[in-house]
Amino acid sequence: MNPNKALWEKGDFTRIAATMRESGEALVDTFGIAKNHKVLDLGCGDGTTAIPAAKRGADVLGVDIASNLVTAGNRRAKEHALSNCKFQEGDASDMQDVEDDAFDLSVSIFGAMFAPRPFDVAKEMVRVTRPGGRIIMGNWIPNDPTLVAQILKISSAYTPPPPEGFVSPMTWGVEGSVTERFVAAGVPENQITFKRDTFTFHSPDSPEELVGLFRNYYGPTMNAFEAAEKNGRAEELQEELEDLFKTQNRNQRRDMTTIPATFLRVTVAV
Ligand SMILES: C[S@@+](CC[C@H](N)C(=O)[O-])C[C@H]1O[C@@H](n2cnc3c(N)ncnc32)[C@H](O)[C@@H]1O
Repeated sequence: MNPNKALWEKGDFTRIAATMRESGEALVDTFGIAKNHKVLDLGCGDGTTAIPAAKRGADVLGVDIASNLVTAGNRRAKEHALSNCKFQEGDASDMQDVEDDAFDLSVSIFGAMFAPRPFDVAKEMVRVTRPGGRIIMGNWIPNDPTLVAQILKISSAYTPPPPEGFVSPMTWGVEGSVTERFVAAGVPENQITFKRDTFTFHSPDSPEELVGLFRNYYGPTMNAFEAAEKNGRAEELQEELEDLFKTQNRNQRRDMTTIPATFLRVTVAV
């Protein structure tokens, strides 16, 4: 079994994605999508950005490695009566079923960063985007003090070390590494730009309840708890995460959660 696929099919990422809808919509508004634009959403999950892009008139293909999320995406497209939004299974490192130059805009928000072989990912994103088109990536930043970078950092401290040769997804949040990958894919360096941006998680649940959602449904955190349980450290991990979520919560009410998180926005002119 492909461990990358297994990680994201574990649990149910749609439970986390439910806290990302408002920011997903707001982010898509900044993409400058025109009607009938051909848009790829890579590592799309259940369509946090694919669905809003289709609502704005684009012709959208969502590609994701997790079959349960592809099913959830197609279900959501149907619920929203979007015949211009289709989800299919595929690997960002090797999109066999996707033709060259097929998209005006290829987007990957916290998606392709989790695929192995980052140089292949950059090459694939460039291959499927037409000359004159754009790539937009949203990537979490290593050691950033905000939510997701900290969840992944805390989780990794409880998880056994990855196999040799494993490249951390967080390297997609380092400008130099991103530049190196797209330059190797044939893009001139001056066509790659970076900006820090904010994505806000909103939940009607308390920070403690939200930790529970990550513990039960978010693959990387589930793995961390499984490993921590074996070492008798699950309570310690729970406390560390609750502390993080409570400190980061900006909601006036303690029984609801609003947490802004910083990410690196990468734009590539192909
Ligand atoms: C943190 S989730 C983000 C999902 C979505 N973009 C969103 O913002 O809600 C990461 C997504 O990347 C997908 N993913 C991970 N590795 C992948 C790969 N090699 N190819 C395609 N998708 C991948 C996962 O299945 C998951 O849906």
